[in-house]
Amino acid sequence: MSTQVVLPRTMQIGEHSSHALPDVLATLGCTRPLIITDGMMVKLGYAERLQSVLSEHNLSADVFSDTLPEPTVASIQAGVSTARDGNYDSIIALGGGSPIDSAKAIAILARHGGEMRDYKFPRQVDEQGIPIIAIPTTAGTGSEVTRFTIITDETTDEKMLCAGLGFMPVAALIDYDLTLSLPARTTADTGIDAMTHAIEAYVSKKANPYSDSQALSAMRLIGPNLRRVYHSGEDKSAREAMMLGSTLAGIAFSNASVALVHGMSRPIGAHFHVPHGLSNAMLLPEVTAFSLPSAPERYAECARALGMAEVTDSDEVANHNLIEALTLLNQELNVPTPEQYGIKRQHFFDVLPQMAEQALASGSPGNNPRVPSADEIVEIYRRLW
Ligand SMILES: [Fe+2]
Repeated sequence: MSTQVVLPRTMQIGEHSSHALPDVLATLGCTRPLIITDGMMVKLGYAERLQSVLSEHNLSADVFSDTLPEPTVASIQAGVSTARDGNYDSIIALGGGSPIDSAKAIAILARHGGEMRDYKFPRQVDEQGIPIIAIPTTAGTGSEVTRFTIITDETTDEKMLCAGLGFMPVAALIDYDLTLSLPARTTADTGIDAMTHAIEAYVSKKANPYSDSQALSAMRLIGPNLRRVYHSGEDKSAREAMMLGSTLAGIAFSNASVALVHGMSRPIGAHFHVPHGLSNAMLLPEVTAFSLPSAPERYAECARALGMAEVTDSDEVANHNLIEALTLLNQELNVPTPEQYGIKRQHFFDVLPQMAEQALASGSPGNNPRVPSADEIVEIYRRLW
């Protein structure tokens, strides 16, 4: 059996790698880029910094900064019009997961038309959109190296998973400098997301020797550094490790899959507007406890790679330590429960059956080592309360 591996054509990794943007554009033969980002990146001066790097090479870029967190069908419309009407030959996606995911959807819709719903899973979107150069500013969603985007259909509160070669950026500039001023909350949420990508890729039914090697490397980088970046955001070596770990975790799950945590996390985000990494964090200990009996050796390896168990620990001890360490990690990173986040109990319980259906429909729970029924998904959601 063989595995198809899909990656960006170019990755520039390390300090100041975003300054390589003009070279990367030249390599791709692109001269007319559109920067797609959000208001915060403009406010922090990151978009302007890219524009000045470009202008030193006699290149200019327009900026579209109206992307929203957790993008919706409506929120990307203006971007589609801008990209379609501006005759751009490339898109520079600058920001966290939301601007990059928005840019991926815009790049396809601007070139091929139609509705976002037409492109949702299980359709494989292999047509090429406007080429994307992704510059992540969080560590992170891994979106810079994945063939996925997530766009919410606001009419049904469904987070639509869209997959295919068309959503893979052609280049990724992975510059940890851009994460040094991230607030602690975003640092924790995006870091837990990256850790979840690595764990889920490793326990996934679609795991393969290539994704395993990326996932284990990611866990070894993320495990010892997640708490460090949360407590001291200016720790450069910890930020560098998290950025690389996040990218490797993205490569791992893009070439395997995510699983039950992500399947159950998207409905929480869509219904209650909980940031993606935070809803993953709420779910991770309970979903791990549910799944562990079906893949104890795999979860034990995760515990060892993350530094949550000793290399010499038995699988049983490593499994026990993993659940305990994930629970303690949530406490240390101040991850709220759904109730503490402000979700109303009645509302939460009322939509559980619908959320379970949406989780199953996304396909991700089917990749979990233990595949749950709708009732079992409802039961796990209940345990979060
Ligand atoms: Fe994620």
